This record gives sequence, C-alpha cells and structure tokens, in this order.
Amino acid sequence: MGRLSVMAYTFGTLFFIVSCSFSIFYGVKVVTHDLPSEKKAQVKYNYHFVLVPEELDNEYWRLVEKGAKAAAKDYGVMLEYVGPKQSNIDDHLKAIEMSAASKVDGIMTQGLSDEQFTPLINRVIEKGIPVITVDTDASNSKRMAYIGTDNYYSGYLAGKALIADTKGKANVAIITGSLYKNHQIQRVKGFEDAVKAESGIQIIDVWESDISRVQAAEKAYQILQEHPEVNAFYGTSALDGIGIAQVVQKYKNNGQIYIMAFDTLPETLTYIQKGIINATVVQEPYEMGYEAVIMMIDIIEGKKVPSIIHTNTKILKVGDLPPSHPDRMEARQ
Ligand code: BGC
Repeated sequence: MGRLSVMAYTFGTLFFIVSCSFSIFYGVKVVTHDLPSEKKAQVKYNYHFVLVPEELDNEYWRLVEKGAKAAAKDYGVMLEYVGPKQSNIDDHLKAIEMSAASKVDGIMTQGLSDEQFTPLINRVIEKGIPVITVDTDASNSKRMAYIGTDNYYSGYLAGKALIADTKGKANVAIITGSLYKNHQIQRVKGFEDAVKAESGIQIIDVWESDISRVQAAEKAYQILQEHPEVNAFYGTSALDGIGIAQVVQKYKNNGQIYIMAFDTLPETLTYIQKGIINATVVQEPYEMGYEAVIMMIDIIEGKKVPSIIHTNTKILKVGDLPPSHPDRMEARQ
C-alpha cells in the first residue's frame, strides 16, 4: 500500500469510529422502513412514539395526526399512527398494548373509559413507557399529562350558545358519539348543566351514533319521525352534525330546525355557510397533536410539564363565515 492509501484508510476508519460513537452518545437510532430492498432508506430519529386514535380514517383524527407528524418532523421523532379502522374499544386497547409490547418511547392516546383505559394506561406506565392522553382524558389514571379540549366546558358553551340563538325556547334532541365514553359523556353533561335552569329548553332524548355519520343521519331521521316536537339538535362528535344536517337538508329544509355541531371539518363549514348548521364547537386537533409530541419529548428529557393543557374551545356561528353559498337560507338564529 502506498503512503496515500494508508492515510486514506486510517482517516476512513477514524471517521467511522467517531460517527458511531456520536450516534451512541446522543442516542440517535437508525430505522429501516419497509421499502423495496434496493430503495431501503435509513432514517435517523431520536424517539419512537405512537399515536393511537379512536378511529384511523376519521377526518378529525387525521388533523391530530397531521399536527403530530409535523412536530415529529421538526424534532426528529419517528411517529406511528395505529388504531382501529372504525371506532372499536377492543381494537383500540389492543393497539395500545401492542405499542407497549414493542417498547416504543411514548404513547399518545385517549382515555375513553375509566374501566378499560385506566388499568391499561397504568400498566403501561409501570413498564416505564410514558403515556399522554390527547382529546379525552383518563384523569384517574397515572397518565403523565393530558392535552385537549375541556370537554365539559365545551358542552357548556354549546348549551349557552343554543340558549342565546333560540331565545331560550327549544326542544332539543342530542346525538352523541357514545353514551359510555368520557369525552361524549362530558360534552352532554356540560350542555345539560348549561340549559337546566332554562324552562323553555327541553332535552327530549339522547341517542348514540357510534361516531358514525351514517348512524347519526339514521338517528336524526328516526327522531324527527318519533318526536315531531323536536326543533333543535346537538351533535357531540365531529360527524354527528354532518349526519344530522344531511337529514334536515333533505326532509326539513325550512329553517325551522336549529343544529349545534362539533368541530370544523370542511363539510360542517359548508353546512354552516348554507345555513343548515347554525353553530359548531371549535376544537384544535392539529395543535393537540403537535403539542402532545413536544410534551412527550419534554417528559422523557426530564422537564416539568403541566398535567393538564386545555386547548382553545369556542363557538363558531353562521355569521362568522362568509355567506359564500348561493343556496344559503336565513337560518333560525
Ligand atoms: C372528538 C373525537 C372523536 C371524533 C369522532 C371529535 O369531536 O373530539 O374524540 O373521535 O369527534 O368523529
């Protein structure tokens, strides 16, 4: 070997040793994604987190995922998004268990019910894997922190806005994602508390949609058949208002039915612009996802984080959006 090649060889070896030590020292992990073998890309990341939503393809959860992925990109985190295809508690719990079994660095999920989620979250924490609840808290569990809407307060706001908009006179049917899940129970309770002193407001019934727009529409139709006195709806999860609006637009499109929805998905906003949905509760799903990732990093790195961060909640009404739709009706306000 000539002198030059010996030098190049020595330099190369040194460089390899130094970069390996850096990786180990800074805890940088290297993953190979499942790409065709010739395209296998090596991606470096500092942590591996999992976000487990109530329903994978739900547009609302896609916004939480978007926020979490943006933060993951900004902070060198590998983020996986896994969970039930359609709302299903058993699959949701399984996804949390499997993530814990594969020893990820942190899990972000909802605390949908105390009976099922609290013991599981506690077991995961005892294994040394931090859990943050997002969107729905399991406040009796040992979760490290919660970030999301104050669900009781959001229901209360919806109730107060409905009183103002209907001048304190309405027969309300509530369509809720579930009668047994924490976030939905709190949104209904907050609403009930807000209207209970109003003698002109009656809650006629509370029905379940299993967070499905089709079921929300079916229930709305049934309610209108069985309770002709109903002249207001309150839908407590992202697709309920849309399902209700579809039915009202088709069968009762005379401006006599008031609808309070939840969330600001594009279809909801279109129905607001058309004057079919009168108002909606605004949540901040993107921020929840983004901030949850940052909180998780802080927790792992030993920084103090608040145990509860409530993202903003407010009511968006017909008048807050430009009346861009040609067939907008003068909605009942
Ligand atoms: C809730 C989510 C829920 C979604 C269902 C949203 O309002 O915050 O927890 O999964 O509705 O569509």
